[in-house]
Order: sequence, then structure tokens, then C-alpha cells
Amino acid sequence: MTLQDKWLDNYKDVENQLHGMSQVKGVVTAFNVNIDAVIRITGAEIEALLKKVSSLQLEKSSIIKAPEDVLSGLLHCFSNGIAEEWLIEEKQTFDWISENIGFDKLQMGGQGGIVANAMAVCGVEKVFAHCASLPKQQAELFLDLPNLFSVNQKGETQKAVDISRAEDAPLIHWIIEFDKGDEVKFGDKILKCPKSNRFIATYDPHNFKLHIDKAFSTRMTKEKFDYVILSGYHMLQEKIFDGSSGIEKIDASREIIKSWKKSNPDAIFHLEVASTQDKAVRKHIIDTICKNVDSMGLNERETMDLLEVIGENELLEACEKDTSAVNLFKGLMKIKDYTGCPRIQLHMFGLYLTVQDSVFKISPKENRNGMQLASVIAATKAGTGAINSSDVLLWAKDKPVSDISLKELKNLTSFVESEYGKGSLETEGIFSTGDTEIIAVPTILIEKPIALVGMGDTISSIFLVAAR
Ligand code: GLC
Repeated sequence: MTLQDKWLDNYKDVENQLHGMSQVKGVVTAFNVNIDAVIRITGAEIEALLKKVSSLQLEKSSIIKAPEDVLSGLLHCFSNGIAEEWLIEEKQTFDWISENIGFDKLQMGGQGGIVANAMAVCGVEKVFAHCASLPKQQAELFLDLPNLFSVNQKGETQKAVDISRAEDAPLIHWIIEFDKGDEVKFGDKILKCPKSNRFIATYDPHNFKLHIDKAFSTRMTKEKFDYVILSGYHMLQEKIFDGSSGIEKIDASREIIKSWKKSNPDAIFHLEVASTQDKAVRKHIIDTICKNVDSMGLNERETMDLLEVIGENELLEACEKDTSAVNLFKGLMKIKDYTGCPRIQLHMFGLYLTVQDSVFKISPKENRNGMQLASVIAATKAGTGAINSSDVLLWAKDKPVSDISLKELKNLTSFVESEYGKGSLETEGIFSTGDTEIIAVPTILIEKPIALVGMGDTISSIFLVAAR
């Protein structure tokens, strides 16, 4: 049997795994839900926009003060083929984007919103999505499903798609996508895009402040749930535009989390870290939230960002030079040591990895099976563009895992075995060092993905909640 076939065999139970999700009583997603205005832009269109502004510097910031900064961020991402999210300070710049860039479509945005839709379509009995703002335009982006709830003005849970908190303002994030190979003439230089990716320009006065809806937080102390998936801290700044403190917002959220934990002591609390630009905020998140949750989720970049704030500079450099599973694994172990978080999950290009305490309540095999389902559904989303109905979820079932993935897995296995002795990581995806369990799953990769935004959120939430 080849290693490919062995993994096809490991993956064969995804259907049961999906059924298992309907035994989950409740999932809370909190805190960030917003509207994504998505537009695909060409090099020629960027050149036309450049003519509308005064000259600009290609500098790396992450704060947008004027239209020039929007284009500077866009060109920075375009020419490096990377994804970044910059924050818009003033409503005028947001209006400039509306008038001059526009959008192709509106879709559900924010980790909380994307995860809520994914959990509901996967069949979780009740999903509760926190919304800082929930006008009709936002509510309509929730899937029309009977198991997907938010909280209305009266503080009651109601089917999310039917809620309209009329006085709430829509929170819109611009997702500007560009294609590999496209070019922009900039001064006397030609900037060529090395990888299809996106630039996010966000104007979101509520989520910037991690605004938490009181009615929702109170209501959740009366509901029953098994998981809380936390996110939305990444938009905070040490000093927020209105003068308030990002650190204080993080601390305030901890009180709410504590009250939910009190009413649902057995629930698993998971933090989706997300790309957090402000270093003081990032450090405070790792020192407070990460030290108090049961589980946390990261991608490659987020792993490196955490290494940066805990002073692991050598390892950070190694990860930046070679973003391999081996280097990232070493990074996860450091982060685990630093935070004491019992379980950390990583989704990197081609491989998913979990490191957890051997006493953790999810077994290694349950973890592996959840990770496999996440890989299949992520491939479905990438290949078909959406996972809006339950009948499409397993579209990518029976597709082989990619060669790149198997190569990463082999390298990781060699490293793990050289450190801890022989095991079956390569064939079973499971290894125990005694204290720590390592679970690794090679993934299915789709050659030309149709959908990318929100992919990480979809993966992380299924990765965790399907692990049973
Ligand atoms: C960030 C963005 C949001 C987007 C999400 C996708 O939260 O602010 O607009 O939908 O990332 O992961």
C-alpha cells in the first residue's frame, strides 16, 4: 500500500464524522461578525486608481489615514503576493473606497460569522452567533437554517437570518482580491504579483473596540453549549482611535468568558488567534486569553507572530526562512510551553497539526478524524466556492491528499522520531511523547481555489468541533 492509499483509507470515515457533528448540542461564536464587500481587481484598475491620488510611498503601515494608504497597502500585498488587513481610521476614506472601488458581492465576514455559518451547515444542534451589530443587511448573510441563532433587541434568541436590529449600522470590510501574474506600472517600476491573494481594508467602529452586546452575553449564561469559539481580538489596538485602551477591552472580555464558563463548566473554550498587527495587544492576548483557554488555533503567520512576542527570535527567523512543518512544530511546542494551553491546532499549507496534553479530553484518533473532515470540507469550499448547503459538504471526499502534504508529513515524522523515538505519525497521523500527543494530517489541495476568504476560519472550527 502506498502512503497515498494509506491516507485515503484513514480518510474514509468522513461521512460518519460529519454525522457526529449533529450530536454537538451547542456552539457559541464570539465576537466578530461583519459584512465583507468582495472585489477582484486587475493591475490596470489599480493603475487607474493611482491616478486619482497624490503620490504615495510604498511603506508598511497597518493604519489607513487617507486614500493613498489604501493603495499603498494594496500594492504592498499585490507585489508580495501576501494577505494583510489594515484598519481605516476615518469614515471619509471608507466613502472614498465605496465611490472609487466598489464591490462585486457582499458575503458573510468576520471569524464569528463565518464559523457560525459553517457550524450550522455541518449540523450542530444550536449555534449562537454574537453580533456587535445586526441590521437586516448583516442578518441576511446568515444561512437560512433553523439551528442558527443570534439575539434580538429584546434579548431573546431568534433565528439569526430573521433578526433586524434596525438602529444598528452595517459594518463593512473591503476584501480586495488580485491575481498571480498580473502587473502594475508604478513610477518607473513594474510590480508583478507573485501569488493570488487579498488586501483587507476595514472600517468597523464596533469591532475595533471589541464591542460586546450585553443582551447576548447575558443570554448565553442561560443557554447550554459544548464549545465557545472566540475571535475578534486581532482588530484591537493598544490605543484605539477613540482613545480607549485595547488592553482594557481584552480584560473586560475575560469577565464575560468567565461568566459563560461558570454556566457551562464542561464547555471547551477555543481562541482563534488571527493576524494581530498591534504587538502590545498580541502580547496581552498570549499572556491572558491564551493562558486561560482550553484550545487555540493558528496558521503559519500567526504562529510566527506569537514567537515574535514571546522573544523566540531564532526560531522565528528559522520559520521565516523555511516555513516548514518541522520549524512550525518547534514553534508550537514553544508556544505551548509559554502559555500552558492544553491544546494547540495549526493549519498550514498542506498539513494540519495538533499538539495537546495526553490527558486532554479529545483522543488523538478523534482529533485526527476531525482534522480529516476539515480537510475535505475546506477542499469543497475551495473547489466549489461555497459550503452553503449540507448536500455539497463532502464534494471533495475520496480525493487524494497532495504530494506536498505527504512530503511535509515525512519530514515532520523524521524530526519527531529523531527526538522521541519510533512511532506511527507518518501512517496513522498519531504520535505520543508520553506527556504530549502529536497529531498530523496531510490535506487535500485544490489546484485553482475559487474561494479563499474565511478558509482558515472554516478549517479551524471543523478541525475542533468535528473531533469527537
Ligand atoms: C477578518 C476580516 C474579515 C474577514 C475575515 C476572514 O476577520 O476582518 O473581514 O471576513 O478576516 O477570515
